[in-house]
Formats: sequence, C-alpha cells, structure tokens
Amino acid sequence: MEKITPSSYSIMRVASRADITSAMKDSLVQLLKDAVDNNFSVGFMKDSTEADFDKFWSDEIALCESENKLFLAVSENQVQGCVIVTREERANGRHRGELRKLLVHSKAQGIGIGTKLEEEATSYARQIGLTLLYLDSATNFLVNGVYEKWGWSKSGEIPQFAKNPDGELVSTWFFYKLLS
Ligand SMILES: CC(C)(COP(=O)(O)OP(=O)(O)OC[C@H]1O[C@@H](n2cnc3c(N)ncnc32)[C@H](O)[C@@H]1OP(=O)(O)O)[C@@H](O)C(=O)NCCC(=O)NCCS
Repeated sequence: MEKITPSSYSIMRVASRADITSAMKDSLVQLLKDAVDNNFSVGFMKDSTEADFDKFWSDEIALCESENKLFLAVSENQVQGCVIVTREERANGRHRGELRKLLVHSKAQGIGIGTKLEEEATSYARQIGLTLLYLDSATNFLVNGVYEKWGWSKSGEIPQFAKNPDGELVSTWFFYKLLS
C-alpha cells in the first residue's frame, strides 16, 4: 500500500450504491480483513470470510440510500477508513443515533483520519437533527482517551460483552456525545 499522508485522502459521504467503485468495495473488504487479522473486535471472527465482509458492506451501502450514511476516507480509490451513522428507528428514539464501525486501516492509523471521520459523522448527525450519539468499543483496542478528546463521555463498561476475532471474551466501553 502507498504511504498515506494527511493530504492524500479525502472524506466522502456515500449516498447510493453508484458511489462505490469495485476497487472501493474490494478495499472495504480488505479494511475488515485487516481489522480481523489484527484481532480488533469489529463484529467478525477469525473464520469470517471475504464473502462475509462483502455481504456486510453490500447491506450497509444499500442502507445509505436512506438517512443512514457511510463516510469513507479514500485515497486513490482505496478506502483507508470508515464510519457509519445510523438513526434509531423506534418512535421514542428518533433524536438519537449510533456511530458504528469507526475503523482506520492499521497502516493508515495515527495521521488524523479517525479524527476527520468522527468530525464528519458528528457534523452530519447534527445536520439531520440528531441530538445524541452513542457508540460502543471493545476496551482492549480502544486508543486510550481518544473519544474523550473528541468530546465523548464514557458511560460505563460491560464485561464479557463481545468476542475478539480469536474467541476471547472482552469487555466493552459505552460512550455518548450530546449534540445540542
Ligand atoms: C481508534 C481509531 C479509529 C483512531 O483513528 P486514527 O486515524 O488512528 O486516529 P487519529 O490519527 O485521528 O488520532 C486520534 C488520536 O489517537 C491517537 N492514536 C491514534 N492511533 C494510535 C495508536 N495506535 N496508539 C496510540 N495513540 C494513537 C493519536 O495520537 C491522536 O491523538 P493526538 O491528536 O493527541 O495526536 C483507529 O486507531 C482504529 O481504527 N483503531 C482500531 C479499531 C478500533 O479500536 N476502533 C474503534 C471501535 S468503535
């Protein structure tokens, strides 16, 4: 992979399937593969296949034709990072949204992509009238203090919440951000 620099990527908001080239789709699959290879808890296990990752992205990209949006950090048609904003569907929670799959390729971490993705996702959440965002993150992969730096508050930790790709049960932190 070419070295990514802070000026060599841009953030795109996916609005329809047509926005995603096949090279981008392949790199989205590789993004999840990289996370699983690094034992990051991203919803998949070591024996998850590229077909599983591909199906996940097809489903998420289809949802982008609604209000839910996928944001990508793209460099030369290759996706280096992503984040998803999903509005709660139930009537009593339409003011709230979830920030999901904030993930940066291991070779592109630490150069500001995660910060930019979080900013774009939060700004979009405000635009569509969300007043509360929440997320969960497995504790052992959490970059210490990163969400607090981005204005999030830690609300608690649940032990044994999810498994790492290698099968180990790990605890998960929950965070929220008030937008109003
Ligand atoms: C957490 C994550 C999204 C941050 O994205 P990123 O592009 O690496 O973050 P940035 O480069 O914008 O850096 C944000 C801060 O985190 C710090 N940071 C990033 N990666 C780091 C690492 N591996 N170790 C220590 N600090 C790190 C940066 O120093 C920066 O702090 P600073 O502004 O004081 O310098 C990314 O590292 C990642 O995908 N991690 C693995 C998966 C994960 O844990 N996702 C969260 C699940 S919801």
